[in-house]
Amino acid sequence: MSHQAHDAERLALEGGQPAKSLPSPPMFPGGMMIDEEEEKAVLDVLRSKRLFRYYGPQDGSSKAAELERRFAEHMGTRYALAVTSGTAALVCGLQGLGIGPGDEVIVPAYTWIASPASVMAVGGIPVVAEVDESLTLDATDVERRITPYTKAIMPVHMRGTPARMDALVDVARRHNLKVIEDTAQADGGSYQGHRLGSIGDVGCFSLQFNKILTAGEGGMVITNDEWTWQRAVMFHDVAGGIRNQLPEEKILWGINFRMPELLAAVMLVQLNRLDGLLDAMRQRKRMLRNGIEDIARRKGVQLQDTPDLEGDAAVAFIFFMETSELADRVSRALTAENIAAGSLYHPDRVDYHVYCHWIPIVNQRSWTPQGGPWRWARREVNYGKDECPRTLDLLGRAVHLDVSPLLTNSEVEETIDGINKVFNAIA
Ligand SMILES: Cc1ncc(COP(=O)(O)O)c(C=O)c1O
Repeated sequence: MSHQAHDAERLALEGGQPAKSLPSPPMFPGGMMIDEEEEKAVLDVLRSKRLFRYYGPQDGSSKAAELERRFAEHMGTRYALAVTSGTAALVCGLQGLGIGPGDEVIVPAYTWIASPASVMAVGGIPVVAEVDESLTLDATDVERRITPYTKAIMPVHMRGTPARMDALVDVARRHNLKVIEDTAQADGGSYQGHRLGSIGDVGCFSLQFNKILTAGEGGMVITNDEWTWQRAVMFHDVAGGIRNQLPEEKILWGINFRMPELLAAVMLVQLNRLDGLLDAMRQRKRMLRNGIEDIARRKGVQLQDTPDLEGDAAVAFIFFMETSELADRVSRALTAENIAAGSLYHPDRVDYHVYCHWIPIVNQRSWTPQGGPWRWARREVNYGKDECPRTLDLLGRAVHLDVSPLLTNSEVEETIDGINKVFNAIA
């Protein structure tokens, strides 16, 4: 073997040549696409001086209202509401559904802390349930955690992966529960031909900078139910618009989560990019999967289960090693090959995506001495490590790679070479 060939086979971690020549592009799918189109959209709004959705110095139409129409159309729902963040979208969605003090909402043990925090913001109590090999809610475990106080289930399509919505909706319907989909990380994904977020009673999106589509911040709520939409609209707007169209006895108070026009203008451009971004990420993920399927099988490495491969939003490529120690070693070895990789849970590394690291929730902290939403709980609710051991085991053994739409074919091929090299040496 030539010196060079030997060097290419040696792990970069041990001084070999990295399989991938350059580090991957930053993982901001919509954010990296921002160009003259967004610039022009923002400038148009600025020049019109109409920065507020309801009026400006001259006549004109609202970008936020246009975004709501186009978003609903794109997602296949009757209604959409533009708000200021994904968390605001979840809070408006929960208010829309009538979830309140003392109500239990089942959330996955693997999700960003905003999902349970939104439940607490309306006085509800988040109850954690296990995820399965898809890293989304396990319907069987959800059913086990239902109590007389459960009012809703919140599936989260984590890392672009569609949750098993048929099983989850079935559990919900049998127990008379609402379904609020947290679609923050899976814009445009689908399950059995329906866009994620449109399957449950309400779907919520985030437009924060890491998300597939972004305006830096922002959020969207979608629903097919008129009264849910009207309630969400009232909550997102302290005194505005829709109240004039409702009978006095239906009018509720709200606060302010209205989307600024500048943000809506950016999002209108981003929405046009959605299907192209999804195509690009899906194609790259397919290449990765095909390129490592064989070696994964031989080495006993399990690929993440994807409940709907076609509908996967494909932002991440995830596989499970046999042990968490192995996952750590593989992640470090891949990173040295210029393939940014990481495991998803380590007991000593605080990460607000993992329920036992939601420190203020685990400790049931409150903003006032009167106590948090748990004071309304009619039973003890826990967030200890033994609450969802299967989730912790899976996350600890997971190795996660971003699938950037900007990866070139040769970068994907180098990534495949790097994974093969690391599996051969370590797995
Ligand atoms: C799964 C999930 N839910 C909710 C949110 C909250 O969104 P935002 O940061 O826009 O409030 C995020 C992202 O931050 C998220 O990843």
